[in-house]
Amino acid sequence: MRALVIGSGAREHALVLALRRDPAVTAVVVAPGNAGIAQHAELRPVDPSSGEAVAALAREIDADLVVIGPEVPLVLGVADAVRAAGIACFGPSASAARIEGSKAFAKDVMAAAGVRTAHSEIVDTPADLDAALDRFGPTWVVKDDGLAAGKGVVVTPDRSAARDHGAELLEQGHPVLLESFLDGPEVSLFCLVDGETVVPLLPAQDHKRVGDGDSGPNTGGMGAYTPLPWLPAGAVEEIVRDVVAPVAAELVRRDAAFSGLLYAGLAMGAAGPAVVEFNCRFGDPETQAVLALLESPLGELLHATATGRLAELPAPRWADGAAVTVVLAAENYPAHPRLGDVVAGAGETGPDEATVLHAGTALRDGALVSAGGRVLSVVGTGADLAAAREQAYARISSIKLPGSHYRTDIGLGAVQNRIALSSS
Ligand code: GLY
Repeated sequence: MRALVIGSGAREHALVLALRRDPAVTAVVVAPGNAGIAQHAELRPVDPSSGEAVAALAREIDADLVVIGPEVPLVLGVADAVRAAGIACFGPSASAARIEGSKAFAKDVMAAAGVRTAHSEIVDTPADLDAALDRFGPTWVVKDDGLAAGKGVVVTPDRSAARDHGAELLEQGHPVLLESFLDGPEVSLFCLVDGETVVPLLPAQDHKRVGDGDSGPNTGGMGAYTPLPWLPAGAVEEIVRDVVAPVAAELVRRDAAFSGLLYAGLAMGAAGPAVVEFNCRFGDPETQAVLALLESPLGELLHATATGRLAELPAPRWADGAAVTVVLAAENYPAHPRLGDVVAGAGETGPDEATVLHAGTALRDGALVSAGGRVLSVVGTGADLAAAREQAYARISSIKLPGSHYRTDIGLGAVQNRIALSSS
């Protein structure tokens, strides 16, 4: 199988490594990729948002499977263009990708499917903002109603901070989504979905705030771990039964059947799981940890999903133990990351060391330099979460990038048994 992966982040780097472990995958081409992915796959330039360009590249390289990593191409219908060219594509149609691209659509689907989620209101004009804020909070959840890579979200007990963020979004012409606050620890559950067939992967937890102890602004994700030792037995099955399967069935009913990776972001509250958001693709940085434990051939899983045969496969197999991703971010990330600094110590990893995945990197005169806010993902594995953390932190501490920062507490709450579900 010849695979073409679209994207350029650490998520795509993780997908490439897992695809290469599948003996049925004979070649992996990545477009556009990054400096780290170039060590494992041929890179080709492409405009990832152009369905025509991606389909043409897939035809040119004789791809048997196209895997689309990021949400923007999916929302723009790139998967439709690839399928129209007769090539299997892992990723939903534009109609199904609205589950991430349009929060109003997602809320409507969840209401019809009877799935618990936050109460929400859209605010379009500054004149309506104050009255709407009075109907929410504290705590206020203020989101950009479009795609904002996680950075358009402010969650705050401070009404004026909520107002400032809402006003700024409106000034930029972006409608604002206000939501009621969902409490309880968060879970990211990724499911392979092929129509009404739903196959969950390992549950993971992201760390969205920039600083230790969940301080500072929201980011695209500063680290993640899997599995979740505090999640009760049966919780994944409950989430599939009560959340993901009803949404998949509702999408089929609306003639927008989902094919690809449906990511349920959930808050595990006293009354059970409630949806914070749905995404239409693998999450970053959880994917880097989840795929580190995958033993089943990834190419086979993705190809079967893309060709309507997911129900024929056995459930995915997982390695014992745990995996932790820690993100190394550039100075001033997430606000205005400084780019172009030399990254040292990111190459040459020994067999018992954590894996270094590249996100925002490039080569300049032969030197590796930062080229994005999230620069690297370092993925440690071990017999348990503590061992996986140890491996990840040993490796990340040896990487030098001026002004860079990373959280030191990824997975620590779980190791210290500080994450508890409240009972109803
Ligand atoms: N983990 C957050 C995201 O992928 O959107």
